[in-house]
Amino acid sequence: MIDVKHLSKSFGDHLVLDDLSEHISPGEKVVVIGPSGSGKSTFLRCLNLLETPSAGTITFDGMEITAPKADIDAIRRQMGMVFQHFNLFPNMTIRKNITLAPVRTGLMKQEEAEAEAEKLLRRVDLLEKADAYPAQLSGGQKQRIAIVRALAMRPKLMLFDEPTSALDPEMVGEVLEVMKELADEGMTMVVVTHEMGFAREVGTRVLFMDGGHILEQNEPHAFFADPKEPRTKEFLSKVL
Ligand SMILES: Nc1ncnc2c1ncn2[C@@H]1O[C@H](COP(=O)(O)OP(=O)(O)O)[C@@H](O)[C@H]1O
Ligand SMILES: [Mg+2]
Repeated sequence: MIDVKHLSKSFGDHLVLDDLSEHISPGEKVVVIGPSGSGKSTFLRCLNLLETPSAGTITFDGMEITAPKADIDAIRRQMGMVFQHFNLFPNMTIRKNITLAPVRTGLMKQEEAEAEAEKLLRRVDLLEKADAYPAQLSGGQKQRIAIVRALAMRPKLMLFDEPTSALDPEMVGEVLEVMKELADEGMTMVVVTHEMGFAREVGTRVLFMDGGHILEQNEPHAFFADPKEPRTKEFLSKVL
């Protein structure tokens, strides 16, 4: 589904991603962990071209999205992204937050988008909030809405950048539960998170990033039971 070859990204003379190559197959749930500043967010943001790579190529679903004439908007629509800080439109109802993009981009007619929004809201048990505004929701509710808003575009891939890091602890579970259901339905997911329980339970592969490199990766059981690199061991000793 995604093929990354020799991806590098610099901000000025600061090299943040250093010649990174990676392949993600359909249906995989790749969990990305690593210390702050290691390049996790930049990696994710390069995958959907929120950041322009300095070098290298990214192929998504057979298209080279880093090609100069690639249709960036069309590509981005096929990748849902969920951020730490929800990024809901504060001046719009929940219903409008969810229906806006599918209607604006011509993916759905208004009625179709409304029906889809209701279906998605029912699925995360928030239908009664359809006409509320984001400020009237808890953090956990806002993040569940951010997830279904991304799903309303019927993406082929979902990217999550620390989706539970800004939440009060008692709200983390409800968001992870929605992500877990999505994983069970077969969605291809790339998730940056510090939730090691989620990595173990849902991940098909764990990538450990350090200093702009993917230093080590493995399937979750082996990754946690038997990390190879000293930096990985040190990191895990702090977070487990
Ligand atoms: N827009 C930017 N401009 C300049 N430096 C940036 C920018 N975004 C990220 N960085 C730098 O790139 C490095 C990696 O950042 P990031 O990808 O956010 O790491 P992580 O998500 O692993 O914490 C950090 O040193 C950060 O300061
Ligand atoms: Mg980050």
